[in-house]
Formats: sequence, C-alpha cells, structure tokens
Amino acid sequence: MSTLLAERPLDLVSDFPAIPAGWAYLDTAATAQKPRAVIDAIARAYGESYATVHRGVYQRSADMTLAYEAARAKVARFIGAGSPDEIVFVRGATEAINLVAQCWAAVQLKAGDRILLSMLEHHSNIVPWQMAAERVGAAIDVAPLTADGRIDLDAVERMLTPAHKLVALSHVSNVLGSVLDGARATRLAHAVGAKILLDGCQSVPRLPVDVRALGCDFYVFSGHKLYGPTGIGALWAKAELLDAMPPWQGGGAMIDRVSFQRTTYAPPPARFEAGTPHIVGALGLAAAIDYVEAIGVERIHAHETALVRDARDKLARINSVRLLGPEDSAGIVSFVVEGVHPHDVGTILDEAKVAIRAGHHCAQPLMEALGVEATARASFGVYNGADDVDALVRGVERVTRIFG
Ligand SMILES: Cc1ncc(COP(=O)(O)O)c(C=O)c1O
Repeated sequence: MSTLLAERPLDLVSDFPAIPAGWAYLDTAATAQKPRAVIDAIARAYGESYATVHRGVYQRSADMTLAYEAARAKVARFIGAGSPDEIVFVRGATEAINLVAQCWAAVQLKAGDRILLSMLEHHSNIVPWQMAAERVGAAIDVAPLTADGRIDLDAVERMLTPAHKLVALSHVSNVLGSVLDGARATRLAHAVGAKILLDGCQSVPRLPVDVRALGCDFYVFSGHKLYGPTGIGALWAKAELLDAMPPWQGGGAMIDRVSFQRTTYAPPPARFEAGTPHIVGALGLAAAIDYVEAIGVERIHAHETALVRDARDKLARINSVRLLGPEDSAGIVSFVVEGVHPHDVGTILDEAKVAIRAGHHCAQPLMEALGVEATARASFGVYNGADDVDALVRGVERVTRIFG
C-alpha cells in the first residue's frame, strides 16, 4: 500500500448515510454513494428554497436562478472551462454525447468523413456516433489497445487522416481504469483537423481535469458518478462550437422570440436547455463539487490509486485470478476468476457484503477484444479503505474455494 494511504488515509465513510457498517461498496464506477452534504443540499432546495428559474419575477425565483447559475459557474471552474456559458446542463454523459452527435456531428459531417473511436469505449460513446454516421454516410474507425489495456495512441497517430473529422475517447476507461493522455490525443486529432470529445465520466471524479490545459473541443461527465444526484451532468464545449450548433430540442427557455412565422433561438447554453431544467439536480451537483474540492481531487486520486495497487497486489496472489488493465489504473480493477462466471463471483461476494459489478459494463466490443464474456469489476470511491480491499480479497478467496 502506498505511504500516502498509510499515512493520511481518507476516513469519510461516516459522511455517507447509505453505506452501513460492514458493507464494502465497490461499485462507484457505476454510481457513487451520496454524502450527507449533497442529500442536505437537495432537501434544502426542495424543502426551503424551491421555485423555478429564469422566469419568476418574485424574489424566491430570482434567488433560485442565481443558485442555478452559480452551480453552472462552479462546474465551469471545476473543470477549467473559460466561461460558465460553455457549460450545458444535461441529464448525464449519455445525453451530452447524443447532443454533440446530433447537433455537431450530424450537421458538420458528410458522406466519406470518418470518426475515430477506441476499442474500450462505453456504449454511450459508440452508439450516438453510429447513429450520426448512418445519417450522413460517415464511417467509424476503431483504435486498438496496448497489451496492458490503454488506448494505443501510436496506433491512433497512424490511423488518423484528413478524412477524420471527430475523435471521441474515454479519458478513463470504466472497465480497465486506464488513463488516457488526453493532451496527446488532442494534439493528434488537431494535427489532422479533427475535433476531439473526451468522455470524462470516470475521470472527473478521480483526476484533476482542466479542459483548457487538455486543449480538447468537447468534454462530458455525469453528476451521479461525482457523488452528486442522478439526472444531471454537463457538456462542456468551446464557445465557438456551441455558438455554431443548432438547437436539438425545442420548447421554453431555449428561444429568443417565437411567432408562427419564425422562431429565433437563445444563445448557448440556454439554446440547449429546453424546458424547465433539473434545478435541484444542478444545486446537488454544486454541493457534490464543494464536497470533492474540500477533500481535494489530487488527494482522492492518490487514495484511489493506493487502493487499486493494494487490491491488485493481493488479488494477483490468488492463482486463478487474472487481472485486466494497467498497473496504474485509476480507481478501477477488473478481473476474471478462471472457470467462474463473473456473475457467480458477484453473487458470492454479495453474500459477504461486498458489492461489485459483474457483466459487460456497457462495453461489449471491449469484452470481445479481451476474449471474455464479462468481467468482475471493483471500483473505489472516497469512502473506501483498506478494509474494503481485504473484504474483496477474502470474498474472492472464498469464490475459489467454492469452485475448487
Ligand atoms: C466511461 C463512461 N461513459 C459514459 C457513461 C454513461 O454515463 P450515464 O449513464 O451517466 O449517462 C458511463 C457510465 O457508466 C461511463 O462509465
């Protein structure tokens, strides 16, 4: 275990009322548990200060509008965006990618253009591009992985051509935990004139993210993986890209003037937020960012990296365990127990009060590339400690005893 974890372990589980004593929650990559601070912020928003935003002339609504826009500014600052106007609130990463696929890719791309993805992408970063590509007659290329499970950027460099108009890659893999060199990926995309979208679902909760330092064009993430509520997430895009994008959903709040002859649209981000937004979700997300920033993302990263190292070291000592992904994966450990279906691993671990994910993790092409049907995946959060790793390892040892 790293000295950092040994000397300054995070001990935050008491902040999380839904984690009972003795339960090892190791499914944070699917969704993070919520700290009391977030639950309280949501309760306050509904129970004390609730009103709509952007429309009311009364004080309560004006205050709520300020809080909602302050949440947007907080998200912008948290990921290093140039301006809050570059942040569009969406339901989550899936919706953000669909928005870019429909309003940017399906508008800008034409027949013969190419999109480059990688073998480890989540279905959310595959299917929306397939749908857009089908509409315009574009083609999709898939970058391979290195032997240890990273997106092979040397291969990306060889594959990219001026026909590529978009590259869309996971900043951190939700299955393998591998961390992409996002700045290099961006340079490679830009060298052929392509735009690049980074899927930050697993990176925003685990690594310091600065979209301007990365240099990318689009960045997306989901609030519920960052200790915030479900149903809220963010799309960040460079202002000039958002400005040039047409709206995707029509309705209230996204307009400038409406008449039956002609409707004009509001500037971004309002142009992309039709209807009453998830006001309380945005406030909950802001509370989650406060919570994470009070701990420090660097510290969270060091904590999770140490837990991963500890888990990998101990699991590697069990003969029938095959670890997947790189040694330095961020907060996520995927493995298979030879001869045992991952669902059986998950069920036996559940009996021992260890919650992991077993399945294809919405990454079926990656499963095929790895030559497995599914994997067992343990993923860590700020509330986990060395005791959770030990419970995992004891559980996997029990699996191997049961299956001989
Ligand atoms: C890497 C990655 N991308 C996209 C998603 C989709 O996120 P959501 O379901 O919150 O929209 C996930 C969720 O598992 C993910 O891990």
